[in-house]
Amino acid sequence: MKLEKVLVVGAGTMGHGIAELFAMAGYQVYLSDINQEILDNALSKIKWSLDKLQEKGQLKESASNIVSRIKTVVGLNESVSDADFAIEAAIEKLDLKRQIFSKLDELLPAHAILATNTSSLSISKIAEATKRPEKVVGMHFFNPPVLMQLVEVMKGEKTSDETAKITYELAKKLGKTPIMINKDVPGYVVNRILGEIISASCIILQRGIADYLTIDAVARYKLGFPMGVFELLDYTGIDVNYYVSKSLEEYGIKSPCSALFEEKVKKNELGVKSGKGFYSYP
Ligand code: CAA
Repeated sequence: MKLEKVLVVGAGTMGHGIAELFAMAGYQVYLSDINQEILDNALSKIKWSLDKLQEKGQLKESASNIVSRIKTVVGLNESVSDADFAIEAAIEKLDLKRQIFSKLDELLPAHAILATNTSSLSISKIAEATKRPEKVVGMHFFNPPVLMQLVEVMKGEKTSDETAKITYELAKKLGKTPIMINKDVPGYVVNRILGEIISASCIILQRGIADYLTIDAVARYKLGFPMGVFELLDYTGIDVNYYVSKSLEEYGIKSPCSALFEEKVKKNELGVKSGKGFYSYP
C-alpha cells in the first residue's frame, strides 16, 4: 500500500508529538486542528523537541528539514484528501471522535487507513461512523511520543488483519516497539495495568495512609518508575486522566480517582500545562 502522506488530527499534547515522529521518519505530514493558534503552539513545541534531539546528536538530518515536512491545516478539508494514513488524537469524547471519523471517511482516498490514538474508547464504536470499519484501527502512543518506546495497536471487531499488520509495521518504521491486541478492550493493556496502579495510589491517598509525595517516592525508588504516579498524572494532564476514567466507567470499570480528578479539573489544576496539579510548576 502506498503510504507517503500522513494526517494527524489534533495538535495537542499527543498530536504534536505524533506529527513530529512521522516527520522524523520521513513522511509528509498534515497537522490539523481547529485554529491556527493551537497549530502555532504545536509547531513551537515540535521545534523545541527537535532542537533537543539535534543537540544530543539523535537526528539523522537537520531539525529544520524535518519541520519542513509538516504542513499545518485549520479544520478538515479537501487539502488533506491525498493522505494515505490518518491518526486522530483529539480529546477523549466518543461523539467528537465519531464526527472526525465520519469526515475523514468522506475526505480520504479508499485505500487510507484511519487510526485513533484513543486510550480508552471502543475502536468498533468509532469505526461505526465510517463506511470502512475494516480500515479503522487503534494506534496508541504514550507521552511524549518521541521518547516513549511502546505503541499499542488494537483491532476493532471489523478491523482487517491487513490494516492491523500495516499499522504494526508502521510503528516499527517509526522506530517503536509495537504490541498487537486482537480484541477491542477499553484501555488497551497499558491503561488497564497503569489504571490499577493509579487507582491504588488514589485509595492510599484518600484513606490518609500516605501523602502523594510518599506514594511517588515508592513509585520512583522501589517500583523503578521514571516518574512518581502523581507526577505522571500532572505530566499527562489531570483532565486527560479524568476523561479516560469517565469513559472507562461507561464500560463498568470504576475509578476511585474520578472524584479527585473532577475536583482538580474544576479548579483548573490540570498539571504541568496549567502550572498546578498535585505539584506546582512556577
Ligand atoms: N522531546 C525531546 N526531548 C525531551 C522531550 C521531548 N518531548 N521531553 C523531555 N525531553 C528531554 C528533557 O528536556 C531532558 O533533556 P536534558 O537531558 O537535555 O535536560 C531529557 O529528555 C530527560 O528528561 P527529564 O530530565 O525531564 O527527565 P527524565 O529522564 O525523567 O525523562 C521522561 C523524561 C522520558 C518523560 C521520563 O520521565 C518518563 O519516561 N516518564 C514516564 C512517561 C510515561 O509513562 N508516559 C506515558 C503516560 S500514559 C500516556 O501517555 C497515555 C495515556 O493513555 C494517557
